Amino acid sequence: MSGTSWLLQGLPHTPLALVTGGSTGLGFAMARTLADHGFSVFVCARTRTDLDAATAREPRLLALHADVTHAEDRQRLFAEVERRAGRPLDLLVNNAAIVRAHDYTNPFTLSEDRAAAEIDTNFAAPIDLARLFLLSRHGRVSTPGAILNVSTPGALFPLDANPLYSATKAGLHMFTLSLRRHLKDTPVRVFELFPPALDTRLADQLDVPSQAAHGQDVIDAVAGEAIAGLLAGTETILPHPQSRALVAMFPPIDTGMIDVVNRGVGRRAGWDHP
Ligand SMILES: NC(=O)c1ccc[n+]([C@@H]2O[C@H](COP(=O)([O-])OP(=O)(O)OC[C@H]3O[C@@H](n4cnc5c(N)ncnc54)[C@H](OP(=O)(O)O)[C@@H]3O)[C@@H](O)[C@H]2O)c1
Repeated sequence: MSGTSWLLQGLPHTPLALVTGGSTGLGFAMARTLADHGFSVFVCARTRTDLDAATAREPRLLALHADVTHAEDRQRLFAEVERRAGRPLDLLVNNAAIVRAHDYTNPFTLSEDRAAAEIDTNFAAPIDLARLFLLSRHGRVSTPGAILNVSTPGALFPLDANPLYSATKAGLHMFTLSLRRHLKDTPVRVFELFPPALDTRLADQLDVPSQAAHGQDVIDAVAGEAIAGLLAGTETILPHPQSRALVAMFPPIDTGMIDVVNRGVGRRAGWDHP
């Protein structure tokens, strides 16, 4: 697979990837799978002990300590990749995310802003990382590149127990669709992964019974399907029957209709020289 992949064809060097949140869970499994496919893989996370554990389990990974909600850390990630590898990334995997329980009838939710952390981590950070990825390559690299945004079926419908997770992933989903359209005539392709419920530490404030059946074997299988889908050029990756069933309930917006609507909303001349 990897020898013939659209992403790897013609690359004059070892492919280079960054997986945010690659210290645990699905991110770690995808990072390991990418290493199996010959990638040189950087992973980042906030918890140093988890990064150490990840590189102890998988010494091929290159660990970077970073909080993706901090602008200076995001910039440092790209600078550090360039310093160590001498060139920009071929693949950015926007995987890091958090989930909190909320209830807008409950004084705990209402007493202060408990939404910002999810907005910053799940929505603002991946968008800015995508910008930095594109900036790092702009005018320098014409080989194929990819951004893989990790979504969730819950991006397509409201989740009552964790509405900010649902809303931030919905925002990321819409940004993913727009970015794919912006980049359609460039070598960078944009992918979206819809994992099923997985038994990771992500949802420790939630009760999700279906996670229990989706332990390490399923996490590894989902990671394998995710990377295989990316390398095969499948833009919407549905790696498990649960993902396929949930996403099928909310069919994608017809691309022809998106074209029609977009004809009515253009960029004014000079918008980029205000
Ligand atoms: N688990 C599920 O049921 C499920 C279902 C659908 C989609 N997904 C998606 O799959 C992806 C991976 O989730 P997971 O289940 O593998 O969760 P996980 O095991 O909790 O992993 C999350 C990773 O993100 C890192 N992270 C969180 N905040 C960060 C920050 N501000 N800066 C840098 N790293 C940060 C965590 O490390 P630190 O905490 O040390 O920073 C950890 O490495 C997420 O995008 C999630 O939305 C998961």
